[in-house]
Amino acid sequence: MKLAVIGHPIRHSKSPFMHNNWLKESGIEGHYEAIEVSPEQLKDQVERFKELGYKGFNVTIPHKETIIPFLDEIDPAAKLLGAVNTVVIEDGKCTGYNTDGRGFLMSLLTKRSESDIHHAQILVLGAGGAAKGIIGALKAFGAERISIANRTSAKAATLAEQQQVSGEGLDLKSAEKQLHRFDIVINTTSVGMVPDVLQMPVDTSLMKKGALAADIIYNPLSTQFLKTAESAGAESLNGIGMFVWQGALAFEKWTTEKPDTNYMIKKMTEYMK
Ligand code: ATR
Repeated sequence: MKLAVIGHPIRHSKSPFMHNNWLKESGIEGHYEAIEVSPEQLKDQVERFKELGYKGFNVTIPHKETIIPFLDEIDPAAKLLGAVNTVVIEDGKCTGYNTDGRGFLMSLLTKRSESDIHHAQILVLGAGGAAKGIIGALKAFGAERISIANRTSAKAATLAEQQQVSGEGLDLKSAEKQLHRFDIVINTTSVGMVPDVLQMPVDTSLMKKGALAADIIYNPLSTQFLKTAESAGAESLNGIGMFVWQGALAFEKWTTEKPDTNYMIKKMTEYMK
């Protein structure tokens, strides 16, 4: 089975390590490779995948949105989001999906129960593509209380209205002032990523004890956002779970196999150290 991930740049992708492990464990003969694809090459690369008999591929920065016109079908949830991270090729037809939001939700379910998620006061930081996918998945799952905060607060307000969440769109400063009232705070911004590891989008020392801080960043494994939340007595969830789960959901679409996510989270955590 031929699989790949395309992006620009792609050389630091951890996806080949993960998927090649799963292929081996599932006893599927195949290979998952990382292919550097520039925006100009994107259309031709999709055709090449079809010609060469690939079963599918993942799509990452900067192609998640621009790939849509080159695909034959788009899953309704991915269409709504306007972003695709997984493509399945069947009978020469490419269908686009997005497993990112659901991947986050599956990771969150390792820390909180279904009913916790339904009733928790949830704050999502950021209003970009990642935030959209995560809010969509949380809402589809039945989360009732979601607020959104963003550096550019107008974007948070627009997203809050589009997704019809209960809370209003906030700026980061006013979100920080209210941080103590949230049970789950999710960072979907790029703040805290290597190399700016000392930054955080809001000061999580203001979180309440026992609340959960979740970051989608996994490099570094423990961001300042998570470390500070922990020292305030909150729990933390790093981005490895979401990364592994978005991959597992893609792997299942290609192979119909459900790969071992717990084992992979441990293995990836070691690999990232
Ligand atoms: P993604 O697809 O990963 O969500 P994106 O769509 O570019 O990427 O969104 C990036 C998010 O990180 C945005 O919410 C952005 O805030 P703005 O809408 O105000 O740009 C947020 N972000 C990026 N850098 C930031 C910074 N230095 N401080 C605060 N927020 C930041």
